[in-house]
Amino acid sequence: MQKLIVTCALPYANGSLHFGHILEQIQADIWVRFHKMQSYECYFICATDTHGTPIMLKAQHLGIPPEELIKSVHQDHLADLNAFGISFDNYYNTHSQESELLVYQIYNRLKQNNKIYSKVINQLYDEEKGMFLPDRFIKGTCPKCRAVDQYGDNCEACGTTYSPMDLIDAYSTISGNKPVIKESEHYFFKLSECSEFLKKWLDTDNRLQVEAKNKMQEWLESGLQDWDISRDKPYFGFPIPDTHDKFFYVWLDAPVGYLASLLNFCNTNNINYDDLWQDDNVKLYHFIGKDVLYFHALFWPAVLYYSNYKTPQSVFVHGFLTVDGQKMSKSRGTFITAKSYLQSGLSPTFYRYYIASKLSNKIEDIDLSLDDFIARVNSELVGKFINIAARSSSFLSKNFDNKLCAKTQDNSLLDQVLLIKETVAKYYTEREYNKAIRTIMAVVDEINVYVDNTKPWILAKDPAKQEELHKVCSILINAFRLISIYLKPIVPDLIAKIEEFLNISPLMWSDLNSSLCNHAIKPYSHLISRIEPKMIENMLEINKASINDTNVPSNLAAENSIVATQYEAIAETVNIDDFAKIDLRVARIIDAKHVEGADKLLQITLDIGSEQRNVFAGIKSAYNPVDLIGKHTIMVANLAPRKMKFGLSEGMILAASSEDKNSGIYILEPDEGAKPGMRVR
Ligand code: 2FM
Ligand code: ZN
Repeated sequence: MQKLIVTCALPYANGSLHFGHILEQIQADIWVRFHKMQSYECYFICATDTHGTPIMLKAQHLGIPPEELIKSVHQDHLADLNAFGISFDNYYNTHSQESELLVYQIYNRLKQNNKIYSKVINQLYDEEKGMFLPDRFIKGTCPKCRAVDQYGDNCEACGTTYSPMDLIDAYSTISGNKPVIKESEHYFFKLSECSEFLKKWLDTDNRLQVEAKNKMQEWLESGLQDWDISRDKPYFGFPIPDTHDKFFYVWLDAPVGYLASLLNFCNTNNINYDDLWQDDNVKLYHFIGKDVLYFHALFWPAVLYYSNYKTPQSVFVHGFLTVDGQKMSKSRGTFITAKSYLQSGLSPTFYRYYIASKLSNKIEDIDLSLDDFIARVNSELVGKFINIAARSSSFLSKNFDNKLCAKTQDNSLLDQVLLIKETVAKYYTEREYNKAIRTIMAVVDEINVYVDNTKPWILAKDPAKQEELHKVCSILINAFRLISIYLKPIVPDLIAKIEEFLNISPLMWSDLNSSLCNHAIKPYSHLISRIEPKMIENMLEINKASINDTNVPSNLAAENSIVATQYEAIAETVNIDDFAKIDLRVARIIDAKHVEGADKLLQITLDIGSEQRNVFAGIKSAYNPVDLIGKHTIMVANLAPRKMKFGLSEGMILAASSEDKNSGIYILEPDEGAKPGMRVR
């Protein structure tokens, strides 16, 4: 029998878990729980990803050592994982002895296999802060379309990718200063020599879903570049041996964290780590989001292979989570953290059920539609499923002392429930959870039809029909038990309550082969409540209120209330004539819509009194187009028109934002009474 090592991507130590993380963890958790119910040996492994510049800077802002930040965030993650029933066998962290040991082991093996070299490269350097700048900490004007304030690696307005050195008027987002070019020695992994291996690796069935495989083939065809695995000090990470100021790049040590967490688990559970890697029955599976495919399907298999490790059997990729059809947004309260959801009193079981009902093995985005969430959970999980127990157990209590009758076999309803056994198992194995739920719920409907047809409430009134009533209710409880087995990987906490009510030991998949006869259950007590729409409103409010702490675990945010505010440096002084050159006008938004193919932009039609203007604004993450229509805002009316990929942009609307992209975008609105066309001065 296969033994499985299963992982989820390691969440960074600079923030709390949000619903995107939890989605992936639920996807993997269902898979693991299903396999464990089938008695597979399975190690479910994860950790907090602790290294890199953002974590170093966050700790600096908080005025604490990074170790303290990591520890606090790690505790915070653990509490949320536990609440959502994510059953990691080990949730460790990458700033650990085991990580360090394995990073050095792997690095040395790569060196022995002649896959590492160093060379001097040019990089942008912030002289005031005394540090080389990662691309995300450099901004400037796009060399192609001249859009201002674009990041160092690609332009969000025109989609061009470039080197940060090509940016016009580049500045460091940390100090606001103009960076200088400075030489530095960097260490590289020879990814360019790994194409043949990767092609072979990719050629085995089920390594990747077809969309991911195609993406890999594109990358392989366009030629692989060597991978820069080092960063200069100051950096929070593991130092590179035989250097005094170089560190391993976080993306080298992060996936090694999978192995380190496993090693830590083996050490504390008397399992031989090396044996696991020698055993052909042991297979490695990674669950990841589509944004980190590059790291998991190119670098990671190559690093493992050239350091004499077993390579991943499969990498399972999922899409992004959207809320009501849009990217999660802090200003709308839809950047849902695990914590806000829990604080609102909503049960994690609901989210697990809903997400499962949407998950397939395709790399499609998954939409959490809040109305559908309420409707689906209430109607399927509470209304249809739990109702079976509620509808039958009261008669068992009143008339039969909670005891099931002696024989329930040879019943066509139970046969029907069992008929889907193989199909449901196949859907779980293939991660087609939406299909599994659909199949299960179709049978749940049949069970409810059986209740309607047999009418236990009528039987109960007829003394001559007591035996029949007993049989009907016993069959229903057995059907309910079988459905509970099917649903257990998805809603384990609910099923644990049901096991308690049914007075049975934890259900396994093999329990489908038996039934409950002559068995006393416990009196029915309430198992789960419906979702009230106000609970969702409450949750969104809690999320909005948590915007200000920019996702710092609450124990840290309280002590350091100004922590996350990062003010941009004030720009160069201008005189009044310079300012007067900018013609700012009040504009009324008369139309706003999504732009096909644009991740960030909305297309906006503005009325500025004398004329109408078409503007593309990078505010999609913060606004629903319909909410903008009718609003007044301020625009730069004399900005030179810009030709963009999607059309001509005839100006710019003003919006406030901070360096922290998660803190939202807020368009400017004039006070009431301002009319389109009025000049702002
Ligand atoms: O993208 C991220 O959030 C990373 N922390 C994921 C790391 S996954 C793995 F490679 F460790
Ligand atoms: Zn551009």
